[in-house]
Amino acid sequence: MRWYRINGMPNASDFSGNQSQIFRVKIQEESICVLLKNQKVYAFREECPHAGKSLLHSRCDHESEITCLAHNFKFSLEDGKCTSHNEGYRLQLLQTKTESNGDVLIYY
Ligand code: FES
Repeated sequence: MRWYRINGMPNASDFSGNQSQIFRVKIQEESICVLLKNQKVYAFREECPHAGKSLLHSRCDHESEITCLAHNFKFSLEDGKCTSHNEGYRLQLLQTKTESNGDVLIYY
């Protein structure tokens, strides 16, 4: 595993307040979602852990949670745990860091 610099994304520092946006990037043929929210960067596999639907258009209307629109499962962006059901599904979060120039890196 190593750090991958993500090119072509808006600078993370351009996002503030309640704005959030999810982007898809490819790392080693894997589709990764990158979410910029309140100047924080989150990264997770695009496939929903419940039934594999894309999380690209998931809803992020809570401070630290996303909702998959396929069946409305909710996942914490802090630890990946499903917060809406007790079946043990877990979002696979990836480690991220933002450099001083705003560049985003993902550990994969
Ligand atoms: S596939 Fe995401 S909630 Fe079912």
